[in-house]
Amino acid sequence: MAARPWPPLLPLLLPLLAGPERGSRSALGPGLGPGGAAAYFPEERWNPESPLRPPSVAVALLARNAAHALPLVLGGLERLRHPPDRMALWLAADHSVDNTSAVLSEWLSRVRSRYHRVSWRHQELPRSFPDEEGPKHWSPSRYEHLMRLRQEALEAARAMWADYLLFLDADNVLLNPDTLALLMAENRTVVAPMLDSRAAYSNFWCGVTAQGYYRRTAAYLPIRRRERRGCFAVPMVHSTFLLDLRRERSRRLAFHPPPPGYGGPFDDILVFAAACRHAGVQMFVSNREQFGFLPVPLRSRSSVRDEAENFLHVQLEIMVKLPPAEPSPHVWVPPKVLDKLGFDEVFLINLRRRPSRRARMLRSLRELGVAPKLVEAVDGRALNRSQVEALGVRMLPGYRDPFHGRPLTHGEVGCFLSHFRVWQEISARGLQRSLVLEDDLRFEVFFRSRLEELMERLEEAALDWDLIYLGRKRLEPERSERGVPGVPQLLRPGYSYWSLGYALSLRGARKLLAAEPLGKMIPVDEFLPLMFDRHPSPEYSRHFSRRDLRAFSAEPLLLFPTHYTGDPGYVSDTETPPQPPEIPEKSRNSHPDGDTESPPQPPEIPEKSPTESRNSHPDGDTESPPQPPEIPEKFPTESRNSHPDSDTDTPPQPPEIWDGEEFLWESQNSQPRRDGDAHEEL
Ligand SMILES: *[C@@H]1O[C@H](CO)[C@@H](O)[C@H](O)[C@H]1NC(C)=O
Ligand SMILES: *[C@@H]1O[C@H](CO)[C@@H](O)[C@H](O)[C@H]1NC(C)=O
Ligand SMILES: *[C@@H]1O[C@H](CO)[C@@H](O)[C@H](O)[C@H]1NC(C)=O
Repeated sequence: MAARPWPPLLPLLLPLLAGPERGSRSALGPGLGPGGAAAYFPEERWNPESPLRPPSVAVALLARNAAHALPLVLGGLERLRHPPDRMALWLAADHSVDNTSAVLSEWLSRVRSRYHRVSWRHQELPRSFPDEEGPKHWSPSRYEHLMRLRQEALEAARAMWADYLLFLDADNVLLNPDTLALLMAENRTVVAPMLDSRAAYSNFWCGVTAQGYYRRTAAYLPIRRRERRGCFAVPMVHSTFLLDLRRERSRRLAFHPPPPGYGGPFDDILVFAAACRHAGVQMFVSNREQFGFLPVPLRSRSSVRDEAENFLHVQLEIMVKLPPAEPSPHVWVPPKVLDKLGFDEVFLINLRRRPSRRARMLRSLRELGVAPKLVEAVDGRALNRSQVEALGVRMLPGYRDPFHGRPLTHGEVGCFLSHFRVWQEISARGLQRSLVLEDDLRFEVFFRSRLEELMERLEEAALDWDLIYLGRKRLEPERSERGVPGVPQLLRPGYSYWSLGYALSLRGARKLLAAEPLGKMIPVDEFLPLMFDRHPSPEYSRHFSRRDLRAFSAEPLLLFPTHYTGDPGYVSDTETPPQPPEIPEKSRNSHPDGDTESPPQPPEIPEKSPTESRNSHPDGDTESPPQPPEIPEKFPTESRNSHPDSDTDTPPQPPEIWDGEEFLWESQNSQPRRDGDAHEEL
């Protein structure tokens, strides 16, 4: 076709020369070239042009002590909808004490042939940097090393004329397979997909100080919570972001050396942000979709094991609202060793008609290394009046729900009977220590180690206990609760709601049974405070002569509801919708999302503890993940499941584990790390 001898004007004339008959034939395809030019000879055929090949993308992944995260991270990478033959991988692993290199090598050996090109640099020794205090400490030589590695990746991508370069941190889990296409569509030189975390932490900042450090601004949370959606110009993106190397100004970007005149700290993210400013390149973050998750950074004293637990929590949090992140099928995942967390039995109560909750809890517990005994809950809605009566169930005389003013619901009867049956089994089997869990809960970070430590301390202190709340709603937050000598992780609880999860001793179960509560039933979470004599109603209390349950509460709490009343996806199995006239005026304000939107505070003020934030409203729920089509029951009124806003006290933080809520950015001796907004819980 290159050697067409026709003068250039001829193709334009051809349609005129061609008769109507020809024209209609051309419209069918053959004979009609691009631009509508018909062939001169009838036997000549034009093929339409084929589409462009997808752009070429280099992916840089720099891994250190990431063996625990790689299966999920690589799974996310593999599932990106971009042809692997248009992708090149640039992988590096070094200074690890764990199996990072072996995991990446194994993965590469299985997948490398799919990718356009793979560059793999790994070094077993040394296992640490000479000037670092631990694997989570960012020392100068570590920063320098990382900056040089990123620079190498950048140069390698340029050398192969990659159109794009995606930096993916080795513990960032991409869940959205369209991440690349979505970011490319933003048409920016540097754009990050906003990643979610259990807290306010993410991979972007909205403000920087004159020295380039993190600065809290009012713009951050509305973006982080997706109250504003779009692609926003921000002064910092890090961890996972896409560079468009076709852009002229991208050529001026570098991780190392820092741009001329740079006087700031040698931190790869600060240096790169400075390089962008110097090159006149604006960074962007997109929160149009849910892209993935990342862990809240740990403090520098943390161990690799802490990091693995922290990452496990990311996995559990993903499952609260989304399908679980699945590992790459091409890496070996160590089999989970399951136990009962030191208890004689772990009971998981689940309604048969809630299979999605069951599946999520079983998977979460398996990831936590816990083997529960599944207990089929009594379905209150399926019980008719004669069955309820046959079971000997009678409502406590005069009982009225404090919020709706209604008597017991069938759901509450079913819930009570479910717990009651567990207590019966504990008593019958003589189980000394049991853990009882409902199926609509989420786990606090470091759940396993915190619970194990709590139970050890309790043992050492020879504490005489019947019941320990692991999750609850404090109803009298203004009243302080006493601590427990020798066990800083415990409080003596006041009047509380919820029966999400609790440890129960054999004696505790027998005390609950001995109260013969079926014949004077109230909701199970009202019954428990009666039994430890902290129920404010003398009216109810007088029906129970022995109220000597030795109850405690974990502090900070270790379990929380997956959803609060009124949240998207909130489903209750114990409540029934209130009648419209019953909605009191105050209910309009009873859902206090606003409480987490506290105005920006000066950095000197001590930050909120993780407990407070765990109890504050999980605004992440506005991300509206696909919820199973369960019965849509929402409660405009405050109820026992409503938001526990009132827990604003700040309990002592366990010394060993940092949750990322600490805020050190602007103090002199701070370690500039990605700890950005971690303290601002969502
Ligand atoms: C390290 O990873 C390799 C390859 O995935 C695996 O065969 C080996 O068992 C792992 N070793 C440990 C200690 O986990
Ligand atoms: C991307 O941006 C460039 C200019 O920066 C513009 O010429 C081009 O049309 C844009 N592409 C799309 C698809 O918006
Ligand atoms: C209640 O349910 C049981 C079992 O399904 C059934 O045998 C009984 O007839 C029902 N009673 C009434 C009054 O509907």
